[in-house]
Amino acid sequence: MKDKFNLSSEAFDYLGIGFYKYCLGKNEGFEFINPSLVKILGYSSRAQLMKKKFVDLFCSVDEKNKFLGAIKKSKRVKFFETSLLKKNNKPIWVAISAFQAKSGTKNEYLEGLVEDISLHKDMEENIALERDMFQGALDNMPDAIYFKDNLNRIVRVNQYYLQGMNKKQEDVTGKTDFDFFPKQQAQQMFEDDNLVLTTGKPIVGKIERTLLANGEWNQVITTKIPVYDRQGKIVGTMGITRDMTAYANLEHSRFKMMMNALVVLGRALEMRDPYTSMHTRNVAVIAGEIAKVLGWDENRLLGMKLAAELHDLGKISIPLDILNKPGKLSDLEYQLIQKHVENCCKLIGDIDFPFSLGQIIEQHHERLDGSGYPHKIKEGDICTEARILAVSDVLESMTSHRPYRAALGKNKAIEELQKGYGNKYDASVVDIVVGLLDKNDGKIFWQSN
Ligand SMILES: [Fe+2]
Ligand SMILES: [Fe+2]
Repeated sequence: MKDKFNLSSEAFDYLGIGFYKYCLGKNEGFEFINPSLVKILGYSSRAQLMKKKFVDLFCSVDEKNKFLGAIKKSKRVKFFETSLLKKNNKPIWVAISAFQAKSGTKNEYLEGLVEDISLHKDMEENIALERDMFQGALDNMPDAIYFKDNLNRIVRVNQYYLQGMNKKQEDVTGKTDFDFFPKQQAQQMFEDDNLVLTTGKPIVGKIERTLLANGEWNQVITTKIPVYDRQGKIVGTMGITRDMTAYANLEHSRFKMMMNALVVLGRALEMRDPYTSMHTRNVAVIAGEIAKVLGWDENRLLGMKLAAELHDLGKISIPLDILNKPGKLSDLEYQLIQKHVENCCKLIGDIDFPFSLGQIIEQHHERLDGSGYPHKIKEGDICTEARILAVSDVLESMTSHRPYRAALGKNKAIEELQKGYGNKYDASVVDIVVGLLDKNDGKIFWQSN
């Protein structure tokens, strides 16, 4: 028994694990302590530690009672994590294992191990601290942040996300966007996540609208990035969504203000020249429908319509009796009317627009074969918006009444466009216009009154 005991002790010393045998009852006290336990508890000799009572080594009375309670209940404990007092009265994290047995017929004793787990505890605390700091930073961010696994299931979200969804963490973990958002919206989110998962390419600053738990829509800007494991394999995605609703509303009110200013300008022009005013409004409808067929985004579509609304603004300086003159115009009068393009460029040329408004308007009477005006430029130099404007302009003009002539009609207008198909007018734009008319059973779709 003794040999067996000594051998174990050497092994435990080698491994740095404390080993003890502690007598209970009348002769309470350590019966055996290995050098590793002496070292763990910071004593300089075994004899010093042998004098201590086991229970006095506990830092906390609660912990001591918990340990003794466990021994009393089941005669054994395994890896009981607690702090013991070192010789210098500083605490050390240890894991105690103990087994209560009888020696011979009389003495009961505890036998077991004490392992120094301070390093492990430090690491655990550091990890917990880092985790808390990370979660704290996430929770304090005024953006919705979420982590998803490679099946697009939510792994973790921050407080802002939960508040916006009016949910608790446990309500969202393991769920997907299909559990919270309308199907079409969730499908788009799913496809974006999958794109990031399969390509590893982030989606940065995508502007979209989302439906909130309270039934309101908000406008958000979203960035999604891949999340990698330590081997460099994509294991999920992380997303940050910023609520832009307030900003979007502000932009919308500014935009409305600007559009209202244009409405006032339009009304002023209408008072002077109702025909041109109606013409530009109708041209904007035609050009807008063409742009929609081309699948242009909201901004480009808006630019197209604005250019159409303003394209004949330069006619403001042309005398009405020339603009509305019945019969043939003299060369000089025709030249004067052509000046409306130059006049318009003078009016808007030095105003900064987020798209090339001046260029579009300047080119709206140019023709692909160079037969237009004012610069007689040819197809490659004429921008797409100007090509659309040219076709819309001809179509509207020929189908509208003028003080000096009756409307020439849709068929004549189409005939003119077909005549210039691919040489004067952009063939694909003419095709779109013909397609739009077919869709509307041949009816004119742009005249509001
Ligand atoms: Fe014009
Ligand atoms: Fe026009």
